[in-house]
Amino acid sequence: MKLELPKWYDLHAHFRQGDVMPHLVRDHLAMGCAGILAMPNTAPPVAKVFENDDLPYWSIEAYTDMLKKAGGDKFSDIIVPLYLTKATKVAAIEAGAKTGILRACKYYLFMTNGVFRAMEEAGVVLCIHGEEHGMAAENYFDRATNAEEYFYRERLPRIVEKFPGLKIVSEHLTTKVAVDFVRSAPATVAATVTPQHLLYTVGHLLQGLKHHLYCLPLLKFEEDRAALRAAVIAPANTKFFAGTDSAPHAKKVTECGCAAGCYTGGIAPQLYAQAFEEAGADLSPPSSRTPKAEGSQDSRGDSSSQAPRNDSHGFRAFENFLCRVGPEFYGLKIPSETFTLEKTPQDVAALSVGGEHIIPLPLGMKQKTLPWRIVQ
Ligand code: NCD
Ligand code: ZN
Ligand code: ZN
Repeated sequence: MKLELPKWYDLHAHFRQGDVMPHLVRDHLAMGCAGILAMPNTAPPVAKVFENDDLPYWSIEAYTDMLKKAGGDKFSDIIVPLYLTKATKVAAIEAGAKTGILRACKYYLFMTNGVFRAMEEAGVVLCIHGEEHGMAAENYFDRATNAEEYFYRERLPRIVEKFPGLKIVSEHLTTKVAVDFVRSAPATVAATVTPQHLLYTVGHLLQGLKHHLYCLPLLKFEEDRAALRAAVIAPANTKFFAGTDSAPHAKKVTECGCAAGCYTGGIAPQLYAQAFEEAGADLSPPSSRTPKAEGSQDSRGDSSSQAPRNDSHGFRAFENFLCRVGPEFYGLKIPSETFTLEKTPQDVAALSVGGEHIIPLPLGMKQKTLPWRIVQ
């Protein structure tokens, strides 16, 4: 089986800095990416727009240049969100948006600032790491609630109410509560979903203590994974899109439990395809189906993903999630260039740079081959 898909945008990934950056960029190019949204939590963070501003941070201008020099000039688009700090000024939002350099801001909850109104007016997207900050451990991951649910119950509804025109991306969803909120929120609110949160639950993380699956927000329960799966495979999905949160850390810091983040560069469409199939989607493209299978329509809507659906909409739902919903939300052009996924096993290898090893998620899960590969 071969799937020909438009090149896609990874709308949440980490490319870091220095020697490792060209390797990370190359992995993203190799997996059919037309463009990336490169998160600004570098050291120092990308927390100013223009290089000539004298804040002690990197600028969007400079970081975009670094990415381009590291091979990212082959992307048709690079979005670098501004890391919001207390020092972020309304004037910088307005000027940045006007030149087109500033298209999004990343908001971590521990930082308060007063720029949401300016972002709303300038059409700048707010990317949110949706977990309540500073919760006591017993509440952070409790049987009855957790930091993400608290955020989607108590915080985000207020922000949406107060800034009805502000475009918001709820990053890396992990709970049914968050999925339900995003689905019922106005069209200004959308969300990214990672491969790991579609593939695994917290049980997979704990069984054998798989450090490479340690990612924030933490994986949750089967009910949550089912809600995420149902959201992405729904034929009418207009809100949930690909953002891998691919987050490279050296093997040694991951394996001591010091670093959270899963590396999925080079293999994300393969992992998403695997997750869609595990959720019961039939990914065979329309042309490769027998007339009988094509005619057997199932009920539309996001019914439970538990039972295999043999879903004749599976391919379109996959293409929609990976290649269309995200760029449409960000106002990016859907590329006419394509890449191809093929259902043939592929071996996975570690990425080694300067004596450090980055272990891709499947290897960390003792999975040495993927059911899908990318063919050029
Ligand atoms: C990310 C990283 O390593 O930069 N880690 C993670 O667990 N997701 C940070 C982030 O996305 O918040
Ligand atoms: Zn995050
Ligand atoms: Zn991230």
